[in-house]
Amino acid sequence: MLTSITITRPDDWHLHLRDGEQLRAVLPHTAKQFARAIIMPNLKPPVVTTEMALAYRARILAALPVALQDHFEPLMTLYLTDNTPSSEIIRAKESAVIHGVKLYPAGATTNSDAGVTDIAKCYNTLAAMERNNLPLLVHGEVTDTDVDVFDREKVFIDRILIPLIRHFPGLRIVFEHVTTRDAVQFVTEVSERIAATITAHHLLLNRNAIFQGGIRPHHYCLPVLKREMHRQALLEAATSGNSKFFLGTDSAPHAQMSKENACGCAGIFTAHAAIEFYAAAFEQAGALNKLEAFASFHGADFYQLPRNTSSITLKKESWIIPERFDYSGEQLIPLYAGTPLNWKLV
Ligand code: DOR
Ligand code: ZN
Repeated sequence: MLTSITITRPDDWHLHLRDGEQLRAVLPHTAKQFARAIIMPNLKPPVVTTEMALAYRARILAALPVALQDHFEPLMTLYLTDNTPSSEIIRAKESAVIHGVKLYPAGATTNSDAGVTDIAKCYNTLAAMERNNLPLLVHGEVTDTDVDVFDREKVFIDRILIPLIRHFPGLRIVFEHVTTRDAVQFVTEVSERIAATITAHHLLLNRNAIFQGGIRPHHYCLPVLKREMHRQALLEAATSGNSKFFLGTDSAPHAQMSKENACGCAGIFTAHAAIEFYAAAFEQAGALNKLEAFASFHGADFYQLPRNTSSITLKKESWIIPERFDYSGEQLIPLYAGTPLNWKLV
C-alpha cells in the first residue's frame, strides 16, 4: 500500500483570500502548501484597476507569516466591468504581476454586482486582452431568472461562451470551477486556448450533500453542486491527464454566521486541507499517479509560467479536521469539519 507521495509543489489557480484580518486568517492555510495562487478580485470594492491590484498584492505579501515569506507568490487579477478601458489592460499586462481578468456576470455570485451586465459592452476590452495575451477567467453561469439554477452553466456555454470564442479566437480563457459533464465535454473538444479549473469540493460532493438530513449551508457554493453523473465527469476529466484541466480550489471563506443564515452566502472553505482533499478524490478514482500533473504542471503551462521546482509530501495518515478556525473574531467552518481525512501534508 502507498504510504506517502511526493509531488512538485502545486499552485492554486483560483482562490479567494478576502482582505484585512480575514486575509491574515486564511492566507497561511494556502501558503503552507501552494507556491502560487490566482487571487480573485471580488473584494468590496472590487479590484478594477492595476493600481488596486498592486496595492492588494502588497497587502497579501505583508500578511504572510514570517516563516512563509518568499515562499508564496500571489498572482493578481482584475475584475472586469462594463467600463474597463483597454488602456487598463495594457497597464495590467505591463505590471507583470496581473495574470488574468475575471468576468463575473452581474449578480452571478458573491460581490458580483459591479460585474458585466452585457458582454457586448466589453468587446473592445476583450480585443485588447486578446492582443496582449492576457487570459479571461470566467464565472460561467448566466444570471437570467428564467434559467434553472442547475442549468446556468450549460446555458452560459451556449449563450455566452460559444459566441465569445468565435469572436475572439486568439483569447485564452479559463472556464473556472466547471461543475457539469457539459462543461467538461465542451472544454475537451474546443480550441487549445480554452482550459478549466476544477475544485476539490465538486470532485468530492454531489448535490445530495446540500440536503443530507437537513439543509447544509456549508455545502452551498456557486456554481451549486450538481448530480452524481456530473461529479463523475469532473473526476474523469481531472484524472485523465488532459492538460486542459487543472487545480483551482475556489476556497471561499465566509464567517459562520453569514453561512448559517436565512440568506446564507455561497462559498466553501477548503484551503485548510486543499491538496489533501484532491489526493483523497484522486485516490478514490484510483489515479493518484495523475495528481501531480493536475496540481502542479497543467496550470503553470497554461498560464505560461515556469513550473515549480520544490516539492511537497503527503503521508497516508488519518487526522481529524478542526471543527472551526478563527476568522477575525468570528468563526470559519471548514469543509469536513470534525471528520477524519486519510492524507496529511508533511
Ligand atoms: O461559492 C462561491 N463563492 N462562488 C463564487 O463564485 C464566489 C465565492 C465567494 O467569493 O464567496
Ligand atoms: Zn471563485
